[in-house]
Amino acid sequence: MLQIVFRSHLTKLLSYTDIQRLCLAAARNNRKAGVSGFMIECGGVFLVSIEGEHRDVHGVLDRIFQYPHHDGIEIVYSEENLGRRRFGAWAMNVMFMDDDVFWQTVFGSGLSCDEILLHRTMEPVFALGLLAMAYHYACSRTKILPSPVGARPGRIPRISHMFRR
Ligand SMILES: Cc1cc2nc3c(=O)[nH]c(=O)nc-3n(C[C@H](O)[C@H](O)[C@H](O)COP(=O)(O)O)c2cc1C
Repeated sequence: MLQIVFRSHLTKLLSYTDIQRLCLAAARNNRKAGVSGFMIECGGVFLVSIEGEHRDVHGVLDRIFQYPHHDGIEIVYSEENLGRRRFGAWAMNVMFMDDDVFWQTVFGSGLSCDEILLHRTMEPVFALGLLAMAYHYACSRTKILPSPVGARPGRIPRISHMFRR
């Protein structure tokens, strides 16, 4: 299996509802393709992980590249021969991270989430850690297993599972 983590930013402002719709559409596509994913969003910047068989992930990536309202897609990390999915609970889910208090508590004062997501060079380990933190938080809040078993992981998220901190 292949995991790709990328960062991109919106070129058009979208509301929470728009982003939730986008996530739902992505989840439906991904579910059909057997791809699972998770993303965090802050200030119009996304950090996204998608995982699945190589061909399926590349198919999804093609669609992502074609999506017109985001830009500057930067692959932050990729791993081939992934033994098991790291973010397999949902076909795609999103967590909104736009709470400065949270970021300052975790990373120290003076930082805001869009500074971290937008301006910093995104170290792969940092990106994976950030996604993992958000993912495990979402799994524990929804009581969904972070490492699902079975042939078809990747459920469609409920809107109420797209967390805002
Ligand atoms: C940050 C970001 C992540 C996306 N992730 C996916 C994805 O995982 N799968 C996908 O099919 N499209 C993804 N897209 C692209 C579109 O959101 C998606 O294809 C579109 O909303 C689907 O609409 P439709 O299938 O109803 O035409 C992503 C777009 C953005 C901006």
